[in-house]
Amino acid sequence: MKKTLYFIMGLILMIGGCKSGNAPFTGKALAIIPAPVSITEMNGDFIFSGKSKIILSVLDSETRLAADCLADFVRNPTGIDLSVEEGSKPVKGSVFMTLDSAINNDEGYELTVTPKKIVVRAKSAVGLFYAVQTIRQLMPVEVESPLVVEGLVLSVPACAIKDEPRFGYRGMHLDVGRHMFPVAYIKRYIDMIALHKMNTFHWHLTEDQGWRIEIKKYPNLTETGAFRKETLIGHGGKKPFTYDGKPYGGFYTQDEVKEIIAYAASKFITVIPEIEMPGHAMAALASYPNLGCTKGPYEVQTRWGVFDDVYCAGKEETFNFLQDVLTEVIELFPSEYIHIGGDECPKTRWEKCPLCQKRIKDEGLKNESELQSYFVQRIEKFVASKGRRIIGWDEILEGGLAPEATVMSWRGTTGGIAAARQKHDVIMTPSTYVYIDYYQCEPQGEPLAIGGYLPLEKVYSYNPMPGELSQEEQKYILGVQGNLWSEYLSTPVYMEYMAYPRMFAIAEIGWAPDRLKDFEDFLARFEAQKKRYDAIGINYFKGEYRDTRAQAK
Ligand code: ACM
Ligand code: ZN
Repeated sequence: MKKTLYFIMGLILMIGGCKSGNAPFTGKALAIIPAPVSITEMNGDFIFSGKSKIILSVLDSETRLAADCLADFVRNPTGIDLSVEEGSKPVKGSVFMTLDSAINNDEGYELTVTPKKIVVRAKSAVGLFYAVQTIRQLMPVEVESPLVVEGLVLSVPACAIKDEPRFGYRGMHLDVGRHMFPVAYIKRYIDMIALHKMNTFHWHLTEDQGWRIEIKKYPNLTETGAFRKETLIGHGGKKPFTYDGKPYGGFYTQDEVKEIIAYAASKFITVIPEIEMPGHAMAALASYPNLGCTKGPYEVQTRWGVFDDVYCAGKEETFNFLQDVLTEVIELFPSEYIHIGGDECPKTRWEKCPLCQKRIKDEGLKNESELQSYFVQRIEKFVASKGRRIIGWDEILEGGLAPEATVMSWRGTTGGIAAARQKHDVIMTPSTYVYIDYYQCEPQGEPLAIGGYLPLEKVYSYNPMPGELSQEEQKYILGVQGNLWSEYLSTPVYMEYMAYPRMFAIAEIGWAPDRLKDFEDFLARFEAQKKRYDAIGINYFKGEYRDTRAQAK
Protein backbone atom coordinates (compact mmCIF):
# COMPACT_ATOMS: atom_id res chain seq x y z
CA MET A 1 0.00 0.00 0.00
CA LYS A 2 2.75 2.40 1.04
CA LYS A 3 4.74 1.52 -2.07
CA THR A 4 1.73 2.22 -4.28
CA LEU A 5 1.26 5.58 -2.58
CA TYR A 6 4.89 6.57 -3.15
CA PHE A 7 4.57 5.48 -6.76
CA ILE A 8 1.43 7.56 -7.34
CA MET A 9 3.03 10.50 -5.55
CA GLY A 10 6.06 10.11 -7.81
CA LEU A 11 3.89 10.12 -10.92
CA ILE A 12 2.07 13.24 -9.75
CA LEU A 13 5.40 14.93 -9.12
CA MET A 14 6.73 13.94 -12.51
CA ILE A 15 3.63 15.06 -14.40
CA GLY A 16 2.92 18.09 -12.25
CA GLY A 17 6.43 19.55 -12.35
CA CYS A 18 7.26 22.93 -13.83
CA LYS A 19 7.89 23.37 -17.53
CA SER A 20 11.16 21.98 -18.71
CA GLY A 21 13.88 24.59 -18.95
CA ASN A 22 17.00 22.47 -18.98
CA ALA A 23 20.25 23.85 -20.24
CA PRO A 24 21.41 22.56 -23.60
CA PHE A 25 24.16 20.04 -22.93
CA THR A 26 27.40 21.78 -23.67
CA GLY A 27 29.38 18.57 -23.92
CA LYS A 28 31.42 18.65 -20.75
CA ALA A 29 33.50 15.51 -20.99
CA LEU A 30 34.58 15.24 -17.38
CA ALA A 31 31.36 16.17 -15.66
CA ILE A 32 32.36 16.07 -12.01
CA ILE A 33 30.17 17.57 -9.28
CA PRO A 34 31.43 19.35 -7.24
CA ALA A 35 33.86 20.85 -9.74
CA PRO A 36 37.48 19.91 -8.99
CA VAL A 37 40.01 22.64 -8.36
CA SER A 38 42.09 21.69 -11.39
CA ILE A 39 41.60 19.17 -14.11
CA THR A 40 43.61 18.29 -17.21
CA GLU A 41 42.17 15.96 -19.80
CA MET A 42 44.58 13.54 -21.42
CA ASN A 43 44.40 10.95 -24.20
CA GLY A 44 43.11 7.42 -23.79
CA ASP A 45 41.34 5.48 -21.09
CA PHE A 46 42.21 3.21 -18.21
CA ILE A 47 40.24 -0.03 -18.46
CA PHE A 48 39.58 -2.34 -15.50
CA SER A 49 40.36 -5.99 -16.23
CA GLY A 50 40.23 -9.25 -14.33
CA LYS A 51 43.92 -8.67 -13.49
CA SER A 52 43.44 -5.20 -11.98
CA LYS A 53 44.17 -4.73 -8.30
CA ILE A 54 43.84 -1.97 -5.76
CA ILE A 55 47.16 -1.42 -4.05
CA LEU A 56 47.30 0.71 -0.91
CA SER A 57 50.50 2.17 0.53
CA VAL A 58 48.88 1.78 3.94
CA LEU A 59 46.16 -0.81 4.38
CA ASP A 60 44.10 -0.07 7.48
CA SER A 61 40.41 0.01 8.34
CA GLU A 62 40.05 3.58 7.01
CA THR A 63 41.92 3.28 3.73
CA ARG A 64 40.16 -0.03 3.15
CA LEU A 65 36.82 1.85 3.14
CA ALA A 66 37.98 3.88 0.14
CA ALA A 67 39.39 0.82 -1.63
CA ASP A 68 36.31 -1.31 -0.92
CA CYS A 69 34.06 1.45 -2.22
CA LEU A 70 35.90 1.38 -5.56
CA ALA A 71 36.02 -2.42 -5.57
CA ASP A 72 32.21 -2.53 -5.10
CA PHE A 73 31.64 -0.17 -8.04
CA VAL A 74 33.79 -2.42 -10.23
CA ARG A 75 32.39 -5.72 -8.94
CA ASN A 76 28.67 -4.98 -9.14
CA PRO A 77 28.36 -4.34 -12.88
CA THR A 78 31.27 -6.53 -14.11
CA GLY A 79 31.65 -9.37 -11.63
CA ILE A 80 35.38 -8.52 -11.49
CA ASP A 81 36.56 -8.93 -7.93
CA LEU A 82 39.55 -6.62 -7.48
CA SER A 83 41.96 -7.72 -4.82
CA VAL A 84 42.83 -5.07 -2.26
CA GLU A 85 46.39 -5.36 -1.02
CA GLU A 86 49.21 -3.41 0.57
CA GLY A 87 52.13 -2.39 -1.63
CA SER A 88 54.67 0.37 -2.12
CA LYS A 89 54.39 1.17 -5.81
CA PRO A 90 52.01 1.40 -8.74
CA VAL A 91 51.52 -1.68 -10.90
CA LYS A 92 50.46 -1.70 -14.56
CA GLY A 93 46.74 -2.19 -15.01
CA SER A 94 46.01 -1.40 -11.35
CA VAL A 95 44.98 1.38 -9.01
CA PHE A 96 47.59 2.62 -6.57
CA MET A 97 46.37 4.62 -3.57
CA THR A 98 48.94 6.26 -1.41
CA LEU A 99 48.93 8.46 1.65
CA ASP A 100 51.12 11.47 1.08
CA SER A 101 51.81 14.07 3.77
CA ALA A 102 52.86 16.53 1.04
CA ILE A 103 49.16 17.03 0.21
CA ASN A 104 48.06 20.07 2.21
CA ASN A 105 44.40 19.59 2.82
CA ASP A 106 43.17 16.75 5.06
CA GLU A 107 40.40 16.01 2.56
CA GLY A 108 42.34 16.81 -0.60
CA TYR A 109 43.58 14.35 -3.23
CA GLU A 110 45.44 14.08 -6.51
CA LEU A 111 44.26 11.66 -9.14
CA THR A 112 46.19 10.66 -12.23
CA VAL A 113 44.55 8.35 -14.72
CA THR A 114 46.51 7.05 -17.70
CA PRO A 115 45.79 4.07 -19.95
CA LYS A 116 48.41 2.19 -17.89
CA LYS A 117 47.35 2.89 -14.33
CA ILE A 118 45.45 5.00 -11.86
CA VAL A 119 47.36 6.72 -9.07
CA VAL A 120 45.68 8.48 -6.16
CA ARG A 121 47.51 10.54 -3.56
CA ALA A 122 45.85 11.91 -0.47
CA LYS A 123 46.82 13.11 2.95
CA SER A 124 44.32 10.80 4.59
CA ALA A 125 41.81 8.07 3.87
CA VAL A 126 38.96 10.53 3.31
CA GLY A 127 40.89 12.09 0.42
CA LEU A 128 41.26 8.62 -1.10
CA PHE A 129 37.50 8.15 -0.67
CA TYR A 130 36.79 11.46 -2.44
CA ALA A 131 39.10 10.41 -5.28
CA VAL A 132 36.99 7.26 -5.57
CA GLN A 133 33.85 9.41 -5.83
CA THR A 134 35.54 11.29 -8.67
CA ILE A 135 36.54 8.03 -10.39
CA ARG A 136 32.94 6.88 -9.97
CA GLN A 137 31.62 10.00 -11.69
CA LEU A 138 34.12 9.47 -14.52
CA MET A 139 33.05 5.87 -15.13
CA PRO A 140 30.07 4.84 -17.28
CA VAL A 141 26.74 5.03 -15.44
CA GLU A 142 26.56 1.24 -15.45
CA VAL A 143 28.79 1.29 -12.36
CA GLU A 144 25.62 2.23 -10.51
CA SER A 145 24.04 -1.08 -11.49
CA PRO A 146 23.73 -3.60 -8.68
CA LEU A 147 23.69 -6.38 -11.30
CA VAL A 148 26.22 -7.52 -13.89
CA VAL A 149 25.83 -5.67 -17.20
CA GLU A 150 26.84 -8.04 -20.02
CA GLY A 151 29.66 -6.74 -22.22
CA LEU A 152 30.38 -3.68 -20.07
CA VAL A 153 33.85 -2.18 -20.52
CA LEU A 154 34.64 -0.26 -17.38
CA SER A 155 36.79 2.65 -18.47
CA VAL A 156 38.04 5.84 -16.86
CA PRO A 157 39.14 8.69 -19.16
CA ALA A 158 42.78 9.71 -18.74
CA CYS A 159 43.13 12.89 -16.73
CA ALA A 160 45.07 14.62 -13.98
CA ILE A 161 43.08 16.17 -11.14
CA LYS A 162 44.20 18.16 -8.13
CA ASP A 163 41.41 18.76 -5.72
CA GLU A 164 40.57 19.95 -2.24
CA PRO A 165 37.54 21.49 -0.52
CA ARG A 166 37.11 25.21 0.04
CA PHE A 167 35.42 24.62 3.43
CA GLY A 168 35.99 21.96 6.08
CA TYR A 169 32.29 21.73 6.98
CA ARG A 170 29.96 20.71 4.16
CA GLY A 171 26.64 19.55 5.50
CA MET A 172 23.10 18.55 4.76
CA HIS A 173 20.31 18.63 7.31
CA LEU A 174 17.14 16.59 7.45
CA ASP A 175 14.13 17.18 9.69
CA VAL A 176 12.47 13.91 10.65
CA GLY A 177 10.24 15.51 13.30
CA ARG A 178 7.47 16.73 11.04
CA HIS A 179 7.65 13.74 8.71
CA MET A 180 9.99 10.83 9.07
CA PHE A 181 11.63 8.74 6.39
CA PRO A 182 12.51 5.04 6.33
CA VAL A 183 16.07 4.09 7.26
CA ALA A 184 16.65 3.01 3.64
CA TYR A 185 15.86 6.53 2.40
CA ILE A 186 18.08 8.14 5.00
CA LYS A 187 20.88 5.89 3.75
CA ARG A 188 20.17 7.02 0.19
CA TYR A 189 20.34 10.64 1.36
CA ILE A 190 23.70 9.81 2.97
CA ASP A 191 24.79 8.17 -0.32
CA MET A 192 24.07 11.41 -2.15
CA ILE A 193 25.91 13.44 0.50
CA ALA A 194 28.95 11.18 0.04
CA LEU A 195 28.82 11.13 -3.77
CA HIS A 196 29.08 14.94 -3.66
CA LYS A 197 31.97 14.99 -1.17
CA MET A 198 30.03 16.48 1.72
CA ASN A 199 31.03 15.34 5.18
CA THR A 200 28.19 16.05 7.61
CA PHE A 201 24.62 14.87 8.08
CA HIS A 202 22.72 17.05 10.57
CA TRP A 203 19.84 14.92 11.82
CA HIS A 204 17.03 17.00 13.33
CA LEU A 205 15.48 14.41 15.64
CA THR A 206 13.01 16.16 17.94
CA GLU A 207 10.15 18.50 17.20
CA ASP A 208 6.76 19.75 18.38
CA GLN A 209 5.16 17.23 16.01
CA GLY A 210 7.21 14.20 16.96
CA TRP A 211 10.11 12.87 19.07
CA ARG A 212 11.98 10.47 16.82
CA ILE A 213 14.83 8.93 18.79
CA GLU A 214 14.50 6.13 21.33
CA ILE A 215 15.73 7.20 24.77
CA LYS A 216 15.83 4.19 27.09
CA LYS A 217 15.45 6.16 30.31
CA TYR A 218 12.35 8.00 29.09
CA PRO A 219 10.10 5.54 27.23
CA ASN A 220 7.18 7.98 27.06
CA LEU A 221 9.17 10.07 24.58
CA THR A 222 8.54 7.41 21.98
CA GLU A 223 5.37 5.81 23.38
CA THR A 224 3.59 9.18 23.47
CA GLY A 225 5.88 11.78 21.93
CA ALA A 226 6.52 9.94 18.66
CA PHE A 227 2.87 9.96 17.62
CA ARG A 228 0.38 12.69 16.75
CA LYS A 229 -3.30 12.07 16.38
CA GLU A 230 -3.59 13.68 12.94
CA THR A 231 -1.88 16.12 10.59
CA LEU A 232 -2.83 19.49 9.15
CA ILE A 233 -4.11 19.48 5.59
CA GLY A 234 -2.82 22.31 3.43
CA HIS A 235 -0.61 25.20 4.40
CA GLY A 236 0.15 26.01 8.05
CA GLY A 237 -0.49 29.68 7.48
CA LYS A 238 -4.00 29.17 6.15
CA LYS A 239 -7.03 29.25 8.47
CA PRO A 240 -9.39 27.61 9.20
CA PHE A 241 -7.20 24.60 9.96
CA THR A 242 -8.39 21.25 8.72
CA TYR A 243 -6.89 17.91 9.62
CA ASP A 244 -6.62 14.51 7.97
CA GLY A 245 -7.88 12.53 10.98
CA LYS A 246 -5.06 9.96 10.53
CA PRO A 247 -2.61 9.13 13.33
CA TYR A 248 0.99 9.66 12.25
CA GLY A 249 4.23 8.72 13.90
CA GLY A 250 7.19 6.50 14.53
CA PHE A 251 10.74 6.74 15.73
CA TYR A 252 14.23 5.39 15.17
CA THR A 253 15.34 2.75 17.65
CA GLN A 254 18.82 3.07 19.10
CA ASP A 255 19.84 0.12 16.93
CA GLU A 256 18.62 1.96 13.83
CA VAL A 257 20.42 5.10 14.95
CA LYS A 258 23.64 3.07 15.34
CA GLU A 259 23.09 1.54 11.90
CA ILE A 260 22.76 4.98 10.31
CA ILE A 261 25.79 6.39 12.15
CA ALA A 262 27.90 3.39 11.07
CA TYR A 263 26.65 3.64 7.49
CA ALA A 264 27.53 7.33 7.39
CA ALA A 265 30.94 6.67 8.98
CA SER A 266 31.72 4.14 6.26
CA LYS A 267 31.36 7.08 3.85
CA PHE A 268 33.38 9.48 6.01
CA ILE A 269 30.26 11.35 7.08
CA THR A 270 29.70 12.58 10.61
CA VAL A 271 26.15 12.53 11.90
CA ILE A 272 25.33 15.48 14.15
CA PRO A 273 22.21 14.85 16.21
CA GLU A 274 19.92 17.74 17.06
CA ILE A 275 17.90 17.64 20.26
CA GLU A 276 15.83 20.83 20.28
CA MET A 277 15.62 23.03 23.35
CA PRO A 278 14.22 25.10 24.96
CA GLY A 279 11.54 25.50 22.23
CA HIS A 280 10.06 23.12 19.67
CA ALA A 281 9.55 20.76 22.59
CA MET A 282 5.81 19.96 22.55
CA ALA A 283 6.34 16.25 21.88
CA ALA A 284 8.61 16.01 24.93
CA LEU A 285 6.15 17.99 27.05
CA ALA A 286 3.27 15.77 25.93
CA SER A 287 5.36 12.82 27.14
CA TYR A 288 6.51 14.41 30.42
CA PRO A 289 4.15 17.32 31.23
CA ASN A 290 6.11 18.28 34.37
CA LEU A 291 8.83 19.65 32.11
CA GLY A 292 6.63 22.58 31.03
CA CYS A 293 5.88 25.75 33.01
CA THR A 294 2.13 25.05 33.26
CA LYS A 295 2.33 21.23 33.54
CA GLY A 296 -0.08 20.90 30.61
CA PRO A 297 -1.76 18.75 29.57
CA TYR A 298 0.11 19.05 26.30
CA GLU A 299 -0.37 17.37 22.94
CA VAL A 300 2.04 16.32 20.25
CA GLN A 301 1.30 19.05 17.73
CA THR A 302 -0.73 18.37 14.62
CA ARG A 303 0.02 21.57 12.74
CA TRP A 304 3.20 23.50 11.90
CA GLY A 305 4.51 26.63 13.56
CA VAL A 306 5.99 27.94 16.79
CA PHE A 307 4.28 27.12 20.09
CA ASP A 308 4.28 28.99 23.38
CA ASP A 309 4.83 25.93 25.55
CA VAL A 310 8.54 25.24 25.93
CA TYR A 311 10.76 23.58 28.56
CA CYS A 312 10.53 25.34 31.92
CA ALA A 313 13.88 26.98 32.62
CA GLY A 314 13.12 27.31 36.32
CA LYS A 315 12.93 23.61 37.15
CA GLU A 316 15.93 21.44 37.94
CA GLU A 317 13.86 18.56 36.60
CA THR A 318 14.16 20.03 33.08
CA PHE A 319 17.96 20.05 33.22
CA ASN A 320 18.11 16.57 34.76
CA PHE A 321 15.89 15.28 31.97
CA LEU A 322 17.88 16.96 29.20
CA GLN A 323 21.18 15.82 30.66
CA ASP A 324 19.93 12.24 30.80
CA VAL A 325 18.72 12.47 27.22
CA LEU A 326 22.01 14.01 26.08
CA THR A 327 23.96 11.32 27.94
CA GLU A 328 22.28 8.64 25.83
CA VAL A 329 22.64 10.73 22.68
CA ILE A 330 26.35 11.31 23.33
CA GLU A 331 26.87 7.59 23.90
CA LEU A 332 25.25 6.86 20.54
CA PHE A 333 26.79 9.62 18.40
CA PRO A 334 30.58 9.93 18.14
CA SER A 335 30.22 13.44 16.66
CA GLU A 336 32.24 16.18 18.35
CA TYR A 337 29.25 18.45 17.88
CA ILE A 338 25.84 18.06 19.48
CA HIS A 339 23.18 20.44 18.12
CA ILE A 340 20.91 21.80 20.83
CA GLY A 341 18.54 23.83 18.66
CA GLY A 342 17.83 27.12 20.41
CA ASP A 343 15.67 28.64 17.67
CA GLU A 344 12.15 30.04 17.84
CA CYS A 345 11.62 29.86 21.59
CA PRO A 346 8.77 32.16 22.68
CA LYS A 347 9.21 33.62 26.15
CA THR A 348 5.45 33.85 26.87
CA ARG A 349 5.34 31.07 29.47
CA TRP A 350 8.62 32.07 31.12
CA GLU A 351 7.27 35.61 31.64
CA LYS A 352 4.39 34.21 33.73
CA CYS A 353 6.08 31.24 35.41
CA PRO A 354 7.08 31.80 39.07
CA LEU A 355 9.91 29.28 38.80
CA CYS A 356 11.34 30.86 35.66
CA GLN A 357 11.05 34.30 37.25
CA LYS A 358 12.75 33.01 40.40
CA ARG A 359 15.58 31.67 38.27
CA ILE A 360 15.98 35.08 36.60
CA LYS A 361 16.17 36.72 40.02
CA ASP A 362 18.45 34.14 41.63
CA GLU A 363 20.89 34.16 38.74
CA GLY A 364 20.88 37.95 38.40
CA LEU A 365 19.60 37.79 34.82
CA LYS A 366 18.13 40.83 33.12
CA ASN A 367 15.30 39.23 31.21
CA GLU A 368 13.96 36.12 29.47
CA SER A 369 16.54 36.39 26.68
CA GLU A 370 19.24 36.07 29.30
CA LEU A 371 17.30 33.16 30.77
CA GLN A 372 17.56 31.40 27.40
CA SER A 373 21.27 32.17 27.40
CA TYR A 374 21.53 30.72 30.95
CA PHE A 375 19.70 27.60 29.69
CA VAL A 376 22.05 27.11 26.75
CA GLN A 377 25.17 27.83 28.80
CA ARG A 378 24.17 25.25 31.38
CA ILE A 379 23.64 22.67 28.68
CA GLU A 380 26.94 23.66 27.08
CA LYS A 381 28.77 23.02 30.36
CA PHE A 382 27.20 19.58 30.56
CA VAL A 383 28.00 18.72 26.93
CA ALA A 384 31.58 20.01 27.42
CA SER A 385 31.92 17.79 30.52
CA LYS A 386 31.40 14.86 28.15
CA GLY A 387 34.10 16.16 25.82
CA ARG A 388 31.73 17.48 23.17
CA ARG A 389 30.76 20.90 21.78
CA ILE A 390 27.42 22.51 21.10
CA ILE A 391 25.97 24.05 17.97
CA GLY A 392 22.87 26.23 18.13
CA TRP A 393 20.73 28.20 15.68
CA ASP A 394 21.52 31.91 15.57
CA GLU A 395 18.95 32.83 18.25
CA ILE A 396 21.54 31.64 20.79
CA LEU A 397 23.27 34.98 20.20
CA GLU A 398 20.38 36.69 21.97
CA GLY A 399 21.08 37.22 25.66
CA GLY A 400 24.74 36.31 25.13
CA LEU A 401 26.49 33.41 23.40
CA ALA A 402 27.58 30.40 25.40
CA PRO A 403 31.39 30.61 25.58
CA GLU A 404 32.28 27.80 23.16
CA ALA A 405 29.12 27.61 21.05
CA THR A 406 29.21 27.26 17.28
CA VAL A 407 26.43 29.18 15.53
CA MET A 408 24.30 28.10 12.59
CA SER A 409 23.26 31.27 10.82
CA TRP A 410 19.80 30.65 9.36
CA ARG A 411 17.98 34.00 9.53
CA GLY A 412 20.12 35.34 6.72
CA THR A 413 23.80 35.90 7.33
CA THR A 414 23.65 38.55 10.08
CA GLY A 415 23.89 36.07 12.94
CA GLY A 416 26.85 34.34 11.35
CA ILE A 417 28.66 37.61 10.81
CA ALA A 418 28.00 38.71 14.41
CA ALA A 419 29.18 35.37 15.81
CA ALA A 420 32.38 35.37 13.72
CA ARG A 421 33.12 38.87 15.00
CA GLN A 422 32.77 37.46 18.52
CA LYS A 423 35.34 34.79 17.53
CA HIS A 424 32.82 31.97 17.45
CA ASP A 425 32.78 29.28 14.82
CA VAL A 426 29.96 29.58 12.32
CA ILE A 427 28.17 27.40 9.82
CA MET A 428 26.33 29.35 7.15
CA THR A 429 22.87 28.07 6.42
CA PRO A 430 20.80 31.12 5.45
CA SER A 431 17.18 30.44 4.57
CA THR A 432 17.53 32.89 1.67
CA TYR A 433 19.90 30.55 -0.20
CA VAL A 434 20.00 27.04 1.22
CA TYR A 435 16.53 26.26 2.65
CA ILE A 436 15.65 23.67 0.09
CA ASP A 437 12.15 23.10 1.45
CA TYR A 438 11.33 26.36 -0.39
CA TYR A 439 9.72 26.22 -3.85
CA GLN A 440 12.33 25.62 -6.51
CA CYS A 441 10.36 27.23 -9.33
CA GLU A 442 7.15 29.23 -9.70
CA PRO A 443 4.71 27.57 -7.27
CA GLN A 444 1.84 27.08 -9.73
CA GLY A 445 1.39 23.38 -10.34
CA GLU A 446 3.99 22.42 -7.76
CA PRO A 447 3.29 20.20 -4.75
CA LEU A 448 2.60 22.28 -1.63
CA ALA A 449 5.72 23.75 -0.01
CA ILE A 450 6.36 26.11 2.87
CA GLY A 451 6.77 29.11 0.54
CA GLY A 452 9.71 31.07 -0.80
CA TYR A 453 11.34 30.85 -4.18
CA LEU A 454 14.74 29.23 -4.35
CA PRO A 455 15.65 27.95 -7.80
CA LEU A 456 18.85 26.00 -8.38
CA GLU A 457 20.54 29.06 -9.88
CA LYS A 458 19.92 31.11 -6.74
CA VAL A 459 21.24 28.36 -4.47
CA TYR A 460 24.28 28.09 -6.70
CA SER A 461 24.89 31.84 -6.56
CA TYR A 462 25.50 31.77 -2.81
CA ASN A 463 28.99 32.49 -1.53
CA PRO A 464 29.14 31.23 2.07
CA MET A 465 32.02 33.56 2.95
CA PRO A 466 30.54 36.92 3.96
CA GLY A 467 32.45 39.71 2.24
CA GLU A 468 31.91 41.92 5.29
CA LEU A 469 34.32 39.91 7.42
CA SER A 470 38.02 40.65 7.76
CA GLN A 471 40.47 37.87 6.88
CA GLU A 472 40.92 37.15 10.56
CA GLU A 473 37.17 36.91 11.09
CA GLN A 474 36.70 34.73 8.00
CA LYS A 475 38.59 31.93 9.74
CA TYR A 476 35.52 31.34 11.88
CA ILE A 477 33.34 30.46 8.91
CA LEU A 478 33.65 26.69 8.95
CA GLY A 479 31.40 26.06 6.00
CA VAL A 480 27.92 25.71 4.64
CA GLN A 481 24.91 23.46 5.05
CA GLY A 482 21.63 22.94 3.21
CA ASN A 483 18.52 22.49 5.34
CA LEU A 484 15.57 20.29 4.49
CA TRP A 485 12.60 20.86 6.78
CA SER A 486 9.84 18.34 6.39
CA GLU A 487 6.50 20.00 7.24
CA TYR A 488 5.35 19.49 3.68
CA LEU A 489 7.58 16.56 2.73
CA SER A 490 5.10 13.83 3.51
CA THR A 491 6.81 11.11 1.44
CA PRO A 492 10.39 10.12 0.62
CA VAL A 493 9.66 10.68 -3.08
CA TYR A 494 8.76 14.31 -2.40
CA MET A 495 11.70 14.67 -0.02
CA GLU A 496 14.04 13.69 -2.86
CA TYR A 497 12.22 15.97 -5.30
CA MET A 498 13.04 18.94 -3.08
CA ALA A 499 16.55 17.79 -2.19
CA TYR A 500 17.93 17.19 -5.70
CA PRO A 501 19.55 18.80 -7.57
CA ARG A 502 19.74 21.69 -5.10
CA MET A 503 21.87 19.55 -2.77
CA PHE A 504 24.40 19.18 -5.59
CA ALA A 505 24.68 22.97 -5.90
CA ILE A 506 25.22 23.25 -2.14
CA ALA A 507 27.96 20.63 -2.43
CA GLU A 508 29.66 22.71 -5.10
CA ILE A 509 29.51 26.00 -3.20
CA GLY A 510 31.05 24.26 -0.20
CA TRP A 511 33.80 22.60 -2.23
CA ALA A 512 34.81 24.57 -5.31
CA PRO A 513 36.79 27.82 -5.11
CA ASP A 514 34.51 30.79 -5.75
CA ARG A 515 36.53 31.82 -8.81
CA LEU A 516 35.62 28.53 -10.53
CA LYS A 517 31.90 28.79 -9.98
CA ASP A 518 29.96 28.97 -13.22
CA PHE A 519 26.28 28.12 -13.27
CA GLU A 520 26.14 27.25 -16.99
CA ASP A 521 29.06 24.91 -16.56
CA PHE A 522 27.43 23.37 -13.46
CA LEU A 523 24.18 22.85 -15.38
CA ALA A 524 26.06 21.18 -18.23
CA ARG A 525 27.78 18.83 -15.80
CA PHE A 526 24.47 18.08 -14.10
CA GLU A 527 22.91 17.39 -17.50
CA ALA A 528 25.75 14.97 -18.28
CA GLN A 529 25.34 13.23 -14.91
CA LYS A 530 21.54 12.90 -15.09
CA LYS A 531 21.93 9.39 -16.50
CA ARG A 532 23.76 8.49 -13.29
CA TYR A 533 21.07 9.98 -11.06
CA ASP A 534 18.50 8.09 -13.14
CA ALA A 535 20.47 4.88 -12.70
CA ILE A 536 20.68 5.45 -8.95
CA GLY A 537 16.92 6.01 -9.05
CA ILE A 538 16.57 9.25 -7.13
CA ASN A 539 13.59 11.47 -7.84
CA TYR A 540 15.29 14.75 -8.73
CA PHE A 541 13.37 17.84 -9.87
CA LYS A 542 13.24 18.14 -13.66
CA GLY A 543 11.77 21.60 -14.21
CA GLU A 544 13.14 25.12 -14.55
CA TYR A 545 16.56 25.45 -12.93
CA ARG A 546 17.12 29.11 -13.73
CA ASP A 547 16.15 32.05 -11.58
CA THR A 548 13.52 33.38 -13.96
CA ARG A 549 12.41 36.07 -11.50
CA ALA A 550 15.93 37.55 -11.44
CA GLN A 551 16.01 37.44 -15.23
CA ALA A 552 12.61 39.19 -15.46
CA LYS A 553 13.89 42.15 -13.43
C1 ACM B 1 14.91 27.17 11.73
O1 ACM B 1 14.73 27.17 10.51
N1 ACM B 1 13.91 27.38 12.56
C2 ACM B 1 16.23 26.97 12.30
ZN1 ZN C 1 8.90 27.90 33.93
